[in-house]
Amino acid sequence: MSEKFKVTIDNIVIEVDPGTTILNAARMIGGDIVPPAMCYYTKLQGSGGKCRTCLVKVSQGSEKDPRPMPKLVASCRTTVMDGMVVQNITSPEVIEARKGVVEILLINHPLDCPVCDQAGECHLQDLSFEHGAEQTRYEFKRRTFERIDIGDKIQLHMNRCILCYRCVFTADQITNERVHGVLNRGDASEISTYITKAVDNDFSGNMIDVCPVGALTDKTFRFKNRVWFTKPVDAHCECDKCSGKVTLWYKGEDVIRVTGRKDQYGEVQDFICNTCRFDKKKTSDWTIEKPTEIDPRSVISANHYEMEHMLPVIDKKIM
Ligand code: SF4
Ligand code: FES
Repeated sequence: MSEKFKVTIDNIVIEVDPGTTILNAARMIGGDIVPPAMCYYTKLQGSGGKCRTCLVKVSQGSEKDPRPMPKLVASCRTTVMDGMVVQNITSPEVIEARKGVVEILLINHPLDCPVCDQAGECHLQDLSFEHGAEQTRYEFKRRTFERIDIGDKIQLHMNRCILCYRCVFTADQITNERVHGVLNRGDASEISTYITKAVDNDFSGNMIDVCPVGALTDKTFRFKNRVWFTKPVDAHCECDKCSGKVTLWYKGEDVIRVTGRKDQYGEVQDFICNTCRFDKKKTSDWTIEKPTEIDPRSVISANHYEMEHMLPVIDKKIM
């Protein structure tokens, strides 16, 4: 049997493979003890270490060296040691630090949730709700940018970008050539379309799905509906470019958006191609499977979205 490391997170013990990060060990346990992650993305190599929302306290480094780590560490970038003891929600210091991180993330982020297309499925909105302060102390003018079209299907609204780099890693790893990146540093940093103005390869739409905020949005869906008034349904098709496994977002009888299927941490399970995402907006393009399972805490379920309610609709579409 291969060697396992024992790690304790918020008093729960789990054994994991060497090389596992604290964040992934926590995800194996699941529940409230899982740190939030705004920049780490399982499918994107090199992601993580940018946003600091996943900070945790290591109160015992390992069995061999039980000294605590001197500072809070990014759980997405720190691998477990045998006998490590970690505190997340059981540490007031972590909770306080996370509140500070949210405040920093919101320094330049506009508080425009009522008009933002991402409202209801924005990770920063959820993070602020769960960990943020009631009011901002920030008195200065926020950074503002003009909206930029990245190709004809994607729009970048840099005002909302939290510089998580997920879209950059996506462009780098999923697409054939690097088409955008982050220019400048600090307050002047911005996602750039410097190399070419258009992202016109087959998988560029995945940048929309990985963006945790409303900075990169689908122009074919923008302002068509609030997400909590839509009905998401799992569907698939035969596709020679991608897995063809998607979520269709219905408004009445119409498919108004197609996205990749996301897991419980909001990460896409399979990247999908632009043909599936943008060009297949008819029910007849798809084989419908079942209503998408929505976390009851999500506002998407606020429209009384329940499996049973969708079944007659699905039956009708299959017929
Ligand atoms: S545009 Fe979105 S995905 Fe890209 S760096 Fe900004 S917040 Fe992250
Ligand atoms: S998720 Fe760990 S630093 Fe962003």
